[in-house]
Amino acid sequence: MRLACVRTSCLASFPLLPSRAHAFGRTHPFAPHGIGSFKPERLQLAALLPCPLSGQRMYAVVGATVTTSEASRGPASAGPPPPITEESIDYNPPRGTRDFAPDEMRLRSWLFQRFREVSRLFAFEEVDFPVLESEALFVRKAGEEITQQLYNFEDKSGRRVSLRPELTPSLARLVLQKGKGLPFPVKWFAIGQCWRYERMTRGRRREHYQWNMDILGISGVEAEAELLAAIVTFFKKVGITSEDVGIRVSNRKVLQSVLGRFGVPNESFAAVCVVVDKIEKIARDEVEGELLKLGVSKDAADGILSALSLRTLAELEALLGSENEAATELKQLFALVDVYGFSDWLSFDASVVRGLAYYTGTVFEGFDKAGKLRAICGGGRYDRLLSTFGGEDTPACGFGFGDAVIVELLKERQLLPALQQDVDCIVFSLEDTLRPQAGLVARTLRDAGYAVELVLESKKMKWAFKHAERLQAKHLVLLGSSEWERGCVRIKNLISREEKDVAIDELVTEVDMLKE
Ligand code: HAM
Repeated sequence: MRLACVRTSCLASFPLLPSRAHAFGRTHPFAPHGIGSFKPERLQLAALLPCPLSGQRMYAVVGATVTTSEASRGPASAGPPPPITEESIDYNPPRGTRDFAPDEMRLRSWLFQRFREVSRLFAFEEVDFPVLESEALFVRKAGEEITQQLYNFEDKSGRRVSLRPELTPSLARLVLQKGKGLPFPVKWFAIGQCWRYERMTRGRRREHYQWNMDILGISGVEAEAELLAAIVTFFKKVGITSEDVGIRVSNRKVLQSVLGRFGVPNESFAAVCVVVDKIEKIARDEVEGELLKLGVSKDAADGILSALSLRTLAELEALLGSENEAATELKQLFALVDVYGFSDWLSFDASVVRGLAYYTGTVFEGFDKAGKLRAICGGGRYDRLLSTFGGEDTPACGFGFGDAVIVELLKERQLLPALQQDVDCIVFSLEDTLRPQAGLVARTLRDAGYAVELVLESKKMKWAFKHAERLQAKHLVLLGSSEWERGCVRIKNLISREEKDVAIDELVTEVDMLKE
């Protein structure tokens, strides 16, 4: 048997040894000789594999663990065969992506449950789309960052595809596919994973889940008010107050009016918005430089940048006039929100433009008032997105709410719930011979809707108690031969510590009573 190995002194990088080797009677294909090297983190994982020859400072990296001397000796005679893999695997998920082990998964489910509850309160219906879409759905020409961050590639049939970086284009595609038969207004929500090749910062990763709520078919700001109300409802539900979080609101028609005054053509509008959105991230001079490159005059660039500094509707009216569309829509929205009763969460801020090209009217972003985190959520009106896909202009607005920043915020505010696995009963047979009967007891409880952990192997009583404690189960159901012969099981309430024998056909009633 010829197998690969490496000495500790070669931890940083080393070539693979033979190009082919035989392991455990099978031909094990190695990468061809002379290619490939392992990074230290891969080696650490390789080092975790069992090394059957004690005292040798060798690391198994491929298939099995051997030394150079063993390589000429033939198959190992004893011990379980090590895993056969072409190369050792990095146990971490790809950079910027996450595993969801039970703890994280519980938190994710808890969060999604809150998203779903709020969507239900607002009578939205859930939809979903494929994570993989045609690349064309996401290709836009306004220079948005999102289009440069696509996880795109050619599939085996030569089609250009991309993992979705957001859900809105897929939603638009589905609405178009449904056509005229779709009853309007459409009120849909979705929770889906999105992929962006991002520069990683706190709360920004390469995959994230987004909760989206969108309304199509309503052109008035009543739709925006409803969406903002949903966001506020969510915040309240998880214990966040208007002291912690605010929502900045503006309207792209503010910029459109300013551009109109300076004679900047409409075709440049989306690209100008994308540039102006960078104002928080890059220096004012650079933004101005990029605007000039788009053919915007110096005067117009100054006009745009000074309009962005407006923070009150009175200032806006003074600049654009009270009859201006942007000012009118914003006033209507703020008046509505006032009556709805959540105006303390909202503020007008003309610097909110949003980095996506398709917005045409209201735009908004949720932010933490301590100013430590990136945007919590964001959205706006996009009345022309469907026509860019060949449909008709359709009033539409919505928002995306990521899973990452909100968790950071909840952590900071110590609002994360302590989540436990949800187990009602542990069923444990004191004797191995009663294990089939234990299965029957577990089934009876499960049929009645209880979450039951059935102990599947021989264990000591002490272990069963510890296990029940770890799972925070409420009842321990014990099967012993003397009770079983009397048609009973012993049930122990793990909260009150009381225990009693219960007839098997009364078990469910007893557990029901104990629950109350
Ligand atoms: P967006 O502002 O690009 O908008 O993303 C919405 C939210 O998704 C952000 O506010 C943030 O919470 C989260 N998010 C975005 N990128 C990342 C990332 N790399 N890592 C973690 N979280 C992230 C949109 O995507 C629009 N399609 C939203 C929309 C729906 N507009 C109308 N309808």
